Amino acid sequence: MIQLVFATNNKHKLAEIRDITGKRFDILSLSDIGCLEEIPENEPTIEGNASSKAWYVYNRYGRDCFADDTGLEIEALDGRPGVKSARYAGEDCISENNIQKILHELEEHVNRKARFKTVISLVINGKETRFEGIVDGHILLEKKGAGGFGYDPVFQPQGYAQSFAEMPPSEKNKISHRSRAIVKLIDFLMHPE
Ligand code: IMP
Repeated sequence: MIQLVFATNNKHKLAEIRDITGKRFDILSLSDIGCLEEIPENEPTIEGNASSKAWYVYNRYGRDCFADDTGLEIEALDGRPGVKSARYAGEDCISENNIQKILHELEEHVNRKARFKTVISLVINGKETRFEGIVDGHILLEKKGAGGFGYDPVFQPQGYAQSFAEMPPSEKNKISHRSRAIVKLIDFLMHPE
């Protein structure tokens, strides 16, 4: 069985990917390989962060690995918060602070188009391949729904009448940026050229 490290200790992300991959792959977490330090995420782009995390594990632990990074890109804000999505309102902020900041910044804008973007970087035998998952939508005028996390209460995907926070997790996971990137990753692993 192919064994791969997913450069995360996030239980939700591990459960999501193990759910999709089933028994086809053995997915290890960072703690499974004894990587207990925090991996730096200082790159200026989502692609750069995904890539540097995957290479960090490959170079230091000698393990085939993939890593992900996600950002919310708002058109009227020139793509912000983007790579800074987790800490847009400051180092110790919580999701509520980030949401209030984007709602405030969008007050003067009619264009509320936004998209979530996930990049997964896979490094196998010293060769990197990237996969991208995007979901288009817009930022609501106010929060709707109590589920999900992060910016979910203010993000409504195109073609849907509910925010991500109003959708059952299984429905969100079917169309999410992350699952779209994961599906491409799995397709690549199953059908290597
Ligand atoms: P990460 O790279 O997966 O850690 O995501 C960075 C940040 O993007 C998170 O801290 C959230 O603020 C935001 N984010 C990522 N995925 C989602 C999502 O599915 N819904 C809402 N916010 C998200």
